[in-house]
Amino acid sequence: MASNGIRRIGVLTGGGDCPGLNAVIRAVTKTAIMNHGVQVCGIEDGFLGLVQNRIKELRQEDVSGILTVGGTILGTSNKCNPSRYCTGMDEQGKPIFKDVTDRCMDHLQHWRLDALVVIGGDGTMSCAKDFIRRGVNCIGVPKTIDNDLIGTDITFGFQTAVETATCAIDRIHTTAASHHRVMVVEVMGRNAGWIALHAGVASGSDIILLPEIPFDYGVICEFITQRHLHHRSCTIACVSEGARPVGGRQVVNHHDPTSPDPVRLGGIGKIVADEIEKRTGAESRVTVLGHVQRGGTPIHSDRLLGTRFGFHAIELLMGGQRNRLVVMRNHKVTDIDLLDAADKQRLVPLDDTLIAAARAVGTCFGDAPVA
Ligand code: F6P
Repeated sequence: MASNGIRRIGVLTGGGDCPGLNAVIRAVTKTAIMNHGVQVCGIEDGFLGLVQNRIKELRQEDVSGILTVGGTILGTSNKCNPSRYCTGMDEQGKPIFKDVTDRCMDHLQHWRLDALVVIGGDGTMSCAKDFIRRGVNCIGVPKTIDNDLIGTDITFGFQTAVETATCAIDRIHTTAASHHRVMVVEVMGRNAGWIALHAGVASGSDIILLPEIPFDYGVICEFITQRHLHHRSCTIACVSEGARPVGGRQVVNHHDPTSPDPVRLGGIGKIVADEIEKRTGAESRVTVLGHVQRGGTPIHSDRLLGTRFGFHAIELLMGGQRNRLVVMRNHKVTDIDLLDAADKQRLVPLDDTLIAAARAVGTCFGDAPVA
């Protein structure tokens, strides 16, 4: 039976999608209905659906059969922040922003939602903060392929993205060897190099470039030249979209001024491949993995993580907790104050043991000659 005054909750998925979102929606909905007799409403397209009052009741049958499906049955948006909502463009083509949080509060009241489960990354948690300030109880569930949310050791979606990138690089390996080429593979991750580090090490990439370790073209090219001298016919470089040379800047693919996080990175892979070819004479190619890393069916670990996170979110609510973020710490699902996690990014620490292990097996990070 419903307790702690909670009879009906809303659930939304915000930011870029990732594999495992449906596992969380399913766990939240089923746990709420079956364990606690609480009704669940799905808010479409993240906070955009709250602004536009696109909300619908979710029944058990609505979340049946979605555990293995990628994406999100609720839809998502990485452009909507209710406190800075884009209502159109002015004559100069600049976006006009308005605070529509009041409108969202009316919709929450209309649907009699006693709490919100917000499934998202740092941008979504940042939006949740504004509702917490107005007294709405928000429980956050951390998602992103980038794995860059502060407070949790892992976000769901990350492991599937790493698996996808690893399999892709494995395939690139065989064609690289056949043609004796340098193959540069650009992976996602924004300002954090988690995907590049994990997929790079798992695929045995020879060079891994991370945003956290600015690289030197001289070091990379000398490494490739030495490989050729030692009859290593091909080289694989796994490059994070946020990587940059020492003293250089990240490569911006485009700006989306209507988005709370307007910068979209991308393009460093091609620059690196061209520079390697120019300096070493080695034939080089680039592959940008792009959104393939976000799509498709979640691997088993993200299904498990999503299920555990969704269950924990509801248990927190029903236990009378307020404004918590579900996290994984030291292999245990637990929770922290949501306000401590909003607006912060978790980068790869330079003393990460995976970096040390990769260096020990001869991987070049572009910052120092490899022994
Ligand atoms: O945050 C997830 C992510 O996939 C990043 O890795 C990437 O930089 C960005 O989103 C791409 O955003 P969009 O889907 O708007 O192109």
